Amino acid sequence: MSLLRWLKERLFCDLAIDLGTANTLVFLKGKGIIVQEPSIVVINRQTGKVEAVGKRAKDMLGKTPASVVAIRPMRDGVIADFEIAEKMLDYFIKKSTNNRGFLIRPRIVIGIPTGITQVERRAVKDVALRAKASEVFLIEQPMSASVGADLPISEPMGNMIVDIGGGTTDIAVISLNGIVFNHSIRIAGNEMDEAIIQYLKKKYNLLIGEKTAELVKMEIGSAYPLDEPITMEIKGRDLREGIPKTIVVDDQEIREALEHVVSAIINAVKIALEKTPPELSADIIDRGIILTGGGSLLKNVDKRIREETKLPVFITEDPLTAVVLGAGKMLDDLDLLKKISLM
Ligand SMILES: Nc1ncnc2c1ncn2[C@@H]1O[C@H](COP(=O)(O)OP(=O)(O)OP(=O)(O)O)[C@@H](O)[C@H]1O
Ligand SMILES: [Mg+2]
Repeated sequence: MSLLRWLKERLFCDLAIDLGTANTLVFLKGKGIIVQEPSIVVINRQTGKVEAVGKRAKDMLGKTPASVVAIRPMRDGVIADFEIAEKMLDYFIKKSTNNRGFLIRPRIVIGIPTGITQVERRAVKDVALRAKASEVFLIEQPMSASVGADLPISEPMGNMIVDIGGGTTDIAVISLNGIVFNHSIRIAGNEMDEAIIQYLKKKYNLLIGEKTAELVKMEIGSAYPLDEPITMEIKGRDLREGIPKTIVVDDQEIREALEHVVSAIINAVKIALEKTPPELSADIIDRGIILTGGGSLLKNVDKRIREETKLPVFITEDPLTAVVLGAGKMLDDLDLLKKISLM
């Protein structure tokens, strides 16, 4: 390695961050993704001290003693708890730049959801600045997800990207480095978990926590009938008897539980298609719909959207990382970054 490069690597660091409702990812320029952890912070109620962040905090979810509390600082894609969000970001930034002794504060690109207010945008920027960024670029998540998914965003050609995250489903049509149309609903993965909790409560008098609900969704949840039926044992508490109970449910039941959430997402896609300018609709017929976000890993969600829209539907290679990868790529193209970043 040349001295110059060695120096540069020690002096400068540029980061891309996806501050998501469910997961936070950090990409370090020249290295790749170095943080991919749940957006959760466990705080000591008495002292206000941070007890755990990320994966460790998620393991503690639903199992914390009264003295500590688990907080998700992001809700519906926006900062719900400013102070905790700052602590979390600070922790992740330190973790990513660990023992590299940077003398110069990092430049940071952050993906933000479309349709958030100016005040909410400002809050994201402030959090990053307070976490010691020298310069902060905000880019809309559908843009970074498209770059992450290698879509030709600079061409005069419509691309529809549907990001099903934890808090929001964001649908955008992109052409010529800009968002031509977008539609966002605050319904996504978290709502699915909640729907499963409610369903099991009603049908089986079984109370389960959010972590279990998420596991059920990942294991046997689906948006369209599966080729092979699957079942799962679920442990929780019987609401009448108050004692632990195990039941067995199948994919059909969980599909039923998720139906209202899935159809809300499909509806949003249909609304977006109806509002897309006709020239771009033609492109979408040819190029199809691209799915990103963890929610697109729900079994057969692509099949369901294909069925209902009659359009080709593709899932990006790694839906959970598309936003941060795209933002990370933009660190190499400062001109493009400046062009498409928001104030
Ligand atoms: N295999 C899977 N099946 C179904 N859902 C999944 C699967 N894997 C992850 N998820 C869900 O994906 C969601 C997280 O996705 P992602 O990390 O893209 O969200 P986020 O970016 O944090 O949220 P947002 O974009 O709304 O702020 C969670 O609700 C999680 O349960
Ligand atoms: Mg996201």
